Amino acid sequence: MSVDYLLKNGLVIVEGAPTRKAVALHLGKIEGIYSPGSEPPAQQVIDCEDLYILPGAIDIHVHLRDLNNSDKEDFETGTRAAAAGGVTTVVDMPNSNPPTLDRDSLAEKVDSAKEKRFVNVGFYSGIQRNTSDFDAQIVPDILGFKVYPHSPIIKDTSYNQKRIRACLKLSEEHDIPLLLHPETGGKRSAPKTLDAFLMQHTCESEEDSIQQFLAAQSEIGGRLHICHVSCASSVRTIEKHRAEDLLTAEVAPHHLFLAGGDFTHPDGASKMLPPLRSPYDNKALQKALHQCVIDCVASDHAPHTEQEKRATFLEASSGIPGLETTVPLMLTEVLEGRLSWVEYLRCCCSAPAHILKLGSKGVLAKGYDADICIVKKEESVICGAFFNSKAKVTPFEGRRVLATPVMTLVGGDLVYNYGQFLIGPGVAGRVPVRKT
Ligand code: DOR
Ligand code: ZN
Ligand code: ZN
Repeated sequence: MSVDYLLKNGLVIVEGAPTRKAVALHLGKIEGIYSPGSEPPAQQVIDCEDLYILPGAIDIHVHLRDLNNSDKEDFETGTRAAAAGGVTTVVDMPNSNPPTLDRDSLAEKVDSAKEKRFVNVGFYSGIQRNTSDFDAQIVPDILGFKVYPHSPIIKDTSYNQKRIRACLKLSEEHDIPLLLHPETGGKRSAPKTLDAFLMQHTCESEEDSIQQFLAAQSEIGGRLHICHVSCASSVRTIEKHRAEDLLTAEVAPHHLFLAGGDFTHPDGASKMLPPLRSPYDNKALQKALHQCVIDCVASDHAPHTEQEKRATFLEASSGIPGLETTVPLMLTEVLEGRLSWVEYLRCCCSAPAHILKLGSKGVLAKGYDADICIVKKEESVICGAFFNSKAKVTPFEGRRVLATPVMTLVGGDLVYNYGQFLIGPGVAGRVPVRKT
């Protein structure tokens, strides 16, 4: 039998170490992994000499905007950014315009993403004011619920214990996770100083929010996933309650590697929520990732226009692009010896798949989906002007990285090849990504 693709002579991680192997792909799946000399015949052969063949990263926290916020990003530019960044599956957040809350708003996004996608796209939904209005028919097409207690998608919804319980009840009933932006809060006036801004988004508020949801979960059940953990104190709380599958957590690369004090300039390039914290928090988060207290890395790709980001810090919009920096940054950790290959594969590929029950994704092994990222070891610096995302302002500007994704395959199709998009939009990958 001749397979569709043979990725030949690459470096595959076997027992924790890069090992010369070939990866055969057939009908959108990984057909097998072969030692040199034993490869099957193939329709197309890609020479991967000196390149790493890795599972594509799975980014379970992105804001691809589109619809009425297409000036910030749309499914085409967002998924081009994913493919160029070595990310083969993204999961889109519901705080869009219009927000994703019901069948119609989800259908609008699904239709647009189907047409524009370059990678697999999954979706989360928000939760309506009255939780009994939730339309269970959308469950197969969403991978979780997302809530923002400090800034609810539906204005003036108060996240008191009653509502928190009702949200967890939905998670429990439908067996999908409740994703939490961990921050308490109600109505607040616009901060006038950087200190006032930071006082509105403290580690205490992050930890309190996690505690409130944990308290409700202990009675109601449901699965809880804590988004973008940013503080050492939250890590300690999560560690105490950690329960595989029932309590999971993610960290964003900017909270691992950047601290607020690194930025003395007054612009908004480093503004996001949660804000950058201290070097002490960076270290605690890195340790938590090593120890599996935090399961995975997710970018929180949150694009805004150039104008919105070039404003002064207090006026700028919160959020930074991340789809084109996560894999280079995380692989630099590996290539400089601070993260093992197995840890990388877990936190960027298999753990995110596990959290969302994407059973056929996240692992480079026979039978899994042929979602693959091929990486070159080379030194470069991050340059936002070269991003495929519409958002080009990054706090990682000028940072040295040692790895570049050079080819990306999605469902067995070679989508991205050294800066070129070979097929699409609307061809490779699945929309919506579903649980398997
Ligand atoms: O910085 C952020 N930007 N944090 C969020 O929670 C939302 C996001 C956005 O949608 O822009
Ligand atoms: Zn958030
Ligand atoms: Zn977010």
